[in-house]
Amino acid sequence: MPHIAILSASVRKGRNSHRTALYFKKFIESENLASVEILDLQEYDFPIFEERLRFFENPTTEMLDFAAKIKAADGVLIVTPEYNGGYPASLKNVVDLLYDEWRKKPVAICTNSAGPFGGAQVMASIQFSLWKIGAWTVPAMFPVPKVQETFDENGQPADQAATDKRATVFINELLWCIEAKKRMT
Ligand SMILES: Cc1cc2nc3c(=O)[nH]c(=O)nc-3n(C[C@H](O)[C@H](O)[C@H](O)COP(=O)(O)O)c2cc1C
Repeated sequence: MPHIAILSASVRKGRNSHRTALYFKKFIESENLASVEILDLQEYDFPIFEERLRFFENPTTEMLDFAAKIKAADGVLIVTPEYNGGYPASLKNVVDLLYDEWRKKPVAICTNSAGPFGGAQVMASIQFSLWKIGAWTVPAMFPVPKVQETFDENGQPADQAATDKRATVFINELLWCIEAKKRMT
């Protein structure tokens, strides 16, 4: 069974997009699609970027733990908020921190906003950064508009059937890329 790491990128006090990360964990587990864990950047509480991990003389255990988990994952699902049309500094921090760990990694991107557009504008900037670093971004979207109404704080969707239907298509794209990569190695 593949292993998926869900990278929950919002570190904001009172954040709402973490609800989507909780939903995906439950969905993937209940459908028995993969083993899954959440890498919560609020819990990691990384300092702002100073240098890439491989050049650190004394990397913290949190940095090493995070790098190992990205490396070990067959695929990564990034759940990010949209801030001023881009992705948050917390996410750039960990994109830049690693290098080899991102190379050819299947990465699916889920964008979140409080408004009606589901954070769709984030796609351009995060896709470009991940492409630059050599990740393999999955050609599927999962925009979540009005995230505060779409999920409750435990990740329970307001409309379970419709959300699960969209999630099935989205996660299947990620699983397809994971399987395709496996066949190449
Ligand atoms: C600094 C900042 C900038 C934001 N910019 C946008 C934006 O450009 N477009 C948008 O739809 N929502 C924007 N929002 C609202 C977020 O989409 C909203 O907070 C949502 O719940 C997802 O982020 P969260 O996980 O931090 O809650 C912004 C929020 C913050 C804190």
